[in-house]
Amino acid sequence: MKLLKADSPQDMSRKAANIISAQIILHPHSVLGLATGSSPIGTYDQLVEWYQKGDLDFSEVTTVNLDEYCGLDGSHEQSYRYFMNQHLFNRVNINMEQTHVPNGKAEDVAAECRRYDSLIASLGGIDLQLLGLGHNGHIGFNEPSGAFEKTTHCVALGESTIQANARFFDSIDEVPRKAITMGIKSIMQAKKILLIVNGEDKRDILHQSLFGPVTPNVPASILQLHPDLTVVACNAL
Ligand code: GLP
Repeated sequence: MKLLKADSPQDMSRKAANIISAQIILHPHSVLGLATGSSPIGTYDQLVEWYQKGDLDFSEVTTVNLDEYCGLDGSHEQSYRYFMNQHLFNRVNINMEQTHVPNGKAEDVAAECRRYDSLIASLGGIDLQLLGLGHNGHIGFNEPSGAFEKTTHCVALGESTIQANARFFDSIDEVPRKAITMGIKSIMQAKKILLIVNGEDKRDILHQSLFGPVTPNVPASILQLHPDLTVVACNAL
């Protein structure tokens, strides 16, 4: 595991964007696994800036996002599809048809989960997976539980996740209670993983994740077993 300490949130974003840019420049057909939440916003802004300067080309890139809220349409401002369009996809020359987010409005959720796994397999897997870290150690929406869920699945969000994400909604009642998330296996099968963590409030959970026992009670702890993990942390290492 490679640990990079960032001096500021801007430095964290720049370091993370550097790693993603290198991936795109060296392998223009890369499959990028992308994440939402507040942590990656600065990274996406940095990538957009470099794209605008002419230093990056997204035209051959394919993306698969980690997760989506159940019940939210892509046009809902708090859906992760909307987030990705706003923060990255609409701002660069990516082919929208090559951007993938689970369908939160799927009627048959189990079928949607199977479709998403087949899609990732048909793309040949993920070259670089970007991750944030939930306060309870979740990655994507893999919440603490008794076992590592391997494939894409529907998850009931934990109370702390609902509370943490309530800041983005008008009221906590509007936060969806369920989400579709890529499973641990899909994440762990990515060739490279880039975890970005910002803030004192994540120091303890990051420490547990990287140096504590590997346990589904701290889903991110599985990352210790990944052969190519880079962590960029600001005020959390
Ligand atoms: C959400 C997302 C995660 C993200 C986490 C942390 O629950 N599903 O993928 O890593 O929040 O978000 P933040 O970066 O805002 O702390």
